[in-house]
Formats: sequence, C-alpha cells, structure tokens
Amino acid sequence: MKDGISFSRAETCMVMEPRHSNIMGNVHGGELMMMMDNAAGIAAFKHAKGDAVTARVDEIVFLKPVHIGDIVTCVGQLTYVGKSSMQIMVSIYVNDFSAESMPEASLTAFFTMVHLVDGVPTEVPRLVPRTPEDHALYQLGEKKYFEIKAKL
Ligand SMILES: CC(C)(COP(=O)(O)OP(=O)(O)OC[C@H]1O[C@@H](n2cnc3c(N)ncnc32)[C@H](O)[C@@H]1OP(=O)(O)O)[C@@H](O)C(=O)NCCC(=O)NCCS
Repeated sequence: MKDGISFSRAETCMVMEPRHSNIMGNVHGGELMMMMDNAAGIAAFKHAKGDAVTARVDEIVFLKPVHIGDIVTCVGQLTYVGKSSMQIMVSIYVNDFSAESMPEASLTAFFTMVHLVDGVPTEVPRLVPRTPEDHALYQLGEKKYFEIKAKL
C-alpha cells in the first residue's frame, strides 16, 4: 500500500571499483555517503510523490571499511513523517564475495528530507506502519523527529 513503509523503500546495489577508492585503497567515505543520500532521496520521492531536499543528516556512523571488489547494498526506509519532513533511516551493507561472507552493516545514518512544491515545504501523506518491524522503525523515527525538533 502506498502509505506503507515498504512502498517507499529504496535499495541500490553496486560493486566497488577502483574509481571509488581513496588513497589508502579503501572505498572513499564520500562515495558511500552519496549512495546514502540518493537512497534517502528516492525513498522520500516515492512517499511524497514529488521533489524532496536533504535538510539534515544525523548520526552517520562508519562501522566497517569497504574495499574495492566488495558488493555494497544501500537501503533507505522511511521511519516517520512530520508535516513536510520525512525521517529516513539509511544503511549500507557490505558483502566480501572473496571471503564468501554474509552481508554486514557498514554504515548507518538518519536523514531528514523535506518535500518541496515550487520551493515551498509542503505536506506529505501520512505514513502507516503495518508489520511489527514497521512499528519498531516508526517508534525510532518518531523519537528522532522530536529530538531533532527540540534542537531547531
Ligand atoms: C530544508 C528547507 C527547505 C527548510 O526550509 P524552512 O524554511 O526551514 O522550512 P520550515 O521551517 O517550513 O520547515 C519545514 C520542515 O523542515 C524541517 N526542518 C527545517 N530545517 C531543518 C533542519 N535543519 N533539520 C531538520 N529538519 C528541518 C522542519 O522541522 C519542518 O518539518 P515539519 O514540516 O515536519 O514540521 C531549507 O532549509 C532548505 O532549502 N535547505 C537547503 C536544502 C538543500 O539544498 N539540500 C541539499 C541538496 S538536496
């Protein structure tokens, strides 16, 4: 359903190539952050059915380095919406195929995206959590939303 968390979920998958590396030979953090911003933007666009800008990124945490040749999966999910703003949790999972390992979380962050129509913040549809997993995400997003509001 179009007001659900799963409807707007955005997922991209990429193999990391030498062009993504920093001088240490690991994947550049900025490349990963761009993937995260794209996933947050797509999730916001799908939910709002229109343009959205990044207003804020909180708690970006680099848990594990990513190497050239790794397969990276980036997942963006809405967790909560206010009036015109959307809370989006973005995670990057990394899979080292040479080690035949399972994907592991490498980065996480919380994005606030704001829906704009003609440059003006505009109300977004409500977000309806349905599954127990949705409800857990929604509670987390609601907490973050009010923590951020208190700082503005
Ligand atoms: C994001 C932006 C549109 C907000 O404009 P604004 O005049 O402050 O808008 P408002 O005060 O009406 O707030 C609109 C919503 O944004 C939220 N918001 C505004 N600034 C925020 C911030 N720094 N962090 C988190 N949320 C913010 C408000 O809480 C409000 O949420 P709500 O509608 O759910 O209650 C404006 O600051 C902007 O254009 N920033 C630049 C965005 C950009 O260029 N991003 C990079 C490229 S995509």
